[in-house]
Amino acid sequence: MTPDSPLSDARIVDSWHRNASLWTSAVREKQIQSRALVTNAAILDAVLSRNPGTVLDIGCGEGWLVRDLSEKGVRGTGVDVVPSLIEQARVAGGGDFRVVSYEAIARGELDITADVAVANFSLIGKESVEGVFGRASMLLDRGGAFIVQTLHPVVASGDLPYEDGWREGSWTGFSTEFTDPAPWYFRTMGSWIRLFTEGGLRVVELREPVHPVTRKPASVIFIAERT
Ligand SMILES: C[S@@+](CC[C@H](N)C(=O)[O-])C[C@H]1O[C@@H](n2cnc3c(N)ncnc32)[C@H](O)[C@@H]1O
Repeated sequence: MTPDSPLSDARIVDSWHRNASLWTSAVREKQIQSRALVTNAAILDAVLSRNPGTVLDIGCGEGWLVRDLSEKGVRGTGVDVVPSLIEQARVAGGGDFRVVSYEAIARGELDITADVAVANFSLIGKESVEGVFGRASMLLDRGGAFIVQTLHPVVASGDLPYEDGWREGSWTGFSTEFTDPAPWYFRTMGSWIRLFTEGGLRVVELREPVHPVTRKPASVIFIAERT
C-alpha cells in the first residue's frame, strides 16, 4: 500500500489532523454513547486492575484517560502524533503529554517505561500498529502489562469476510462536520493474539464488555504481559 493510497497508515494520521478539534469536543461532551455507557469504564477498570504507579497512553488523543487515571493517583504520560490534540491534553492537564508517532516508537525514540502501556481505540492501521507491537514489551517495567481496547472483530466485521484487510472508514453516528474518515485495518481475533505473541507478549486476560442496549460486545480488551 503506497502512502498516498486511500487505505494506508498515512491517511489515518491525515484524518486525525483534520478532525482533531471536533474529536476533542465529541470526547469531552460525551457524545459517543458506547464510550459513556461501557468502554470508558471498561478500560479504566482494566488499567486499574494492574494497580499501576505509572501509565503510558499510546495514541492518547485529547488525554481523557491519563486525566481520569491521575485522579486515581496514577502518574501518566500520553503520546499522540497530532500536535493540536497534545496541546488540548496539556491545557487540560493531569499528566505529561508529548507529540510522538507510532513510527517514532517503532524506531525506539520513546525513552520511557511504565507499569501499564495502554492503547484505547488507537491501534487503527497496519504497519504503524505492527511497529508499536514490535516495541511494546520494551516500554514496560518489570511485571508490567500492555492493555489494548479495540473494536470486537466479530461485531466489527459486519457483513464483510472475516479476514484481515483494510476497510473504508466512516463517521456514522458522529456530527456531519467530521470529514475524511480514517480507513482502518481489520484484524481477526487470532491476528490480534498473534501480534502480541510476535511482540514477545502473552495475553493473560481477554475482556468483552457488553453494550447494555445492543447486548453485543462493545469492544474487546486484551491484557498482556511480557513472556
Ligand atoms: C480513536 S482516537 C483515540 C484517542 C484516545 N485513545 C481516546 O481514547 O480518546 C485514535 C488516536 O490515535 C492516534 N494515532 C493514529 N495513528 C497514529 C500514529 N501513527 N502515531 C501516533 N498516534 C496515532 C490519533 O491521532 C488519535 O488521537
